[in-house]
Amino acid sequence: MASANQIKQLVRHFIKKDEKRFLSVVLQISAHESKIGHTKFAEELRNLVENAKLTFNSPKSVAPDVVSSNSSRIDISHTNELFTVSHPTLTFKNIILSEDIEAKLLRFLNENRNSTKIRQHGLVPRRHLLLYGPPGTGKTMSASVIAHELHLPLFTVRMDSLMTKFMGETSAKLRSIFEYIGTHKGVYLFDEFDSIGTKRSVTNDVGEVRRVLNTFLQLLDEHQSDSLIISATNHKDILDHALYRRFDDVIEYSRPTEASIMDLILSRFIAFNLIVSDRNELIASANGLSYAEIKKSCDDAVKFALIHNVKKINQRDLISLLNERKSYQK
Ligand SMILES: Nc1ncnc2c1ncn2[C@@H]1O[C@H](COP(=O)(O)OP(=O)(O)O)[C@@H](O)[C@H]1O
Ligand SMILES: [Mg+2]
Repeated sequence: MASANQIKQLVRHFIKKDEKRFLSVVLQISAHESKIGHTKFAEELRNLVENAKLTFNSPKSVAPDVVSSNSSRIDISHTNELFTVSHPTLTFKNIILSEDIEAKLLRFLNENRNSTKIRQHGLVPRRHLLLYGPPGTGKTMSASVIAHELHLPLFTVRMDSLMTKFMGETSAKLRSIFEYIGTHKGVYLFDEFDSIGTKRSVTNDVGEVRRVLNTFLQLLDEHQSDSLIISATNHKDILDHALYRRFDDVIEYSRPTEASIMDLILSRFIAFNLIVSDRNELIASANGLSYAEIKKSCDDAVKFALIHNVKKINQRDLISLLNERKSYQK
């Protein structure tokens, strides 16, 4: 908990309306909480500070005003509506990946860990990723892992706020976002990226949709900073082919293989004993489900065990939970 001294400082800075010093005391408290093992609370405090900084940042210092195509000025303070920011704690060890994806993500991380060396030689590290594949296969999770591994904040672009009825406004907002990206190093996730490529304007004007997509591509080409841009989508097919060439890596995610199913299940039963009597039967019952669905079934089994105070979980019980989840797919 915050010391009496820190509370007094907070009140003093509040009275003087000194936002910067107020937030710096909050960060000190967060660092202290993290040290004594209250990592979740510490992370929540840090996230609150990051969000507050987005609000307090002087608009002019972030990016110039932009003028949308319908000539209404768009204030940069929209930027905080456009992102949510977090400091993920997931590590590379937490995510289960195929060898191919793992190799690509490691190369991405290594190039960014050595970006100074690479840039000194006139080269540019990989900075733009496109992740695609079915829901629940680890695309969003990968963005969190990358942010954590590179000690960067994760800014998730809120596509619902970005996509307005007026496409001209959307292009202007995209420009504001890229201005921000250029001045604030971080990992920027455009989740459900396909909505840029597909959403129709109010007039259903396909030309407008193309214009937004072209704005995005142009901004991506022009992006010079060390920030990382990750786009993720469940619907690869509806994306424009022109897009693929513009990313440094295009990575396909899939539902888990048999080996990954077992890895995932075992990773969820660390504190509980799962009695596996027939491995093949267990794998078969999970086959076809996503990582997210299998994880949920495992967590359901653990919750059941907790409620009933048992330390061992029978494979039969897990299978019935997996089957329950499979029945939702029909
Ligand atoms: N490859 C994976 N390894 C371990 N857990 C995973 C994996 N993919 C998904 N999960 C679990 O499912 C949750 C949802 O996955 P998410 O990354 O949001 O999927 P996507 O973005 O591909 O739809 C994650 O928070 C994680 O708990
Ligand atoms: Mg996702």
